[in-house]
Amino acid sequence: MATAAHDLRATSARPDMTAALMRETGLTDACLRQFVEDFYAQVRCDPVLGPIFAARLTEWEPHLARMTDFWSSVALMTGRYHGRPMEAHAQLPVDWSHFERWLTLFRQTATESFAPDGAAHLIARAERIARSLHIAVEDSRASAAPRLRPTDRGA
Ligand code: HEM
Repeated sequence: MATAAHDLRATSARPDMTAALMRETGLTDACLRQFVEDFYAQVRCDPVLGPIFAARLTEWEPHLARMTDFWSSVALMTGRYHGRPMEAHAQLPVDWSHFERWLTLFRQTATESFAPDGAAHLIARAERIARSLHIAVEDSRASAAPRLRPTDRGA
């Protein structure tokens, strides 16, 4: 497996860790790219999520490439994604029901695409990140709420 880690040096910042994760999950960059394409094909047709993406994305290829790097970083720790997902979602017209819908499509596509270990690995991470993004959306809307000042605490 030293060879696998060696081959990964061009595509991963942590080749040993990526090789171990690939072994444990059965995931690869190539199958993550296919998964991203299949998942967003569903999202684009979805009556609730499709219009939200259509209003913001005119070119899909850069988004698919970015999302492949994102999932490669999250699932295989390749360190290839450098972006700001919280900022990208903070102003979207979404509530938890949109995240639930997104997760339903994600779980379906992951379960159809991968063996159980790989699907579970991705789904657990998607669920955790969806919760964080939802909090970011809620926080950006709460910006008009009064902020705590030092004198408000423990008074
Ligand atoms: C309510 C469900 C969601 C909607 C409607 C949504 C919508 C979008 C849209 C429209 C963009 C493109 C933003 C732009 O380029 O201007 C985007 C980017 C992105 N989304 Fe989502 N998203 C959702 C949930 C999620 C979840 C749950 C994840 C992760 C698990 C995620 C990860 C990302 C990432 C990494 C980007 C790229 C951000 C960047 O680097 O620019 N999204 N999303």
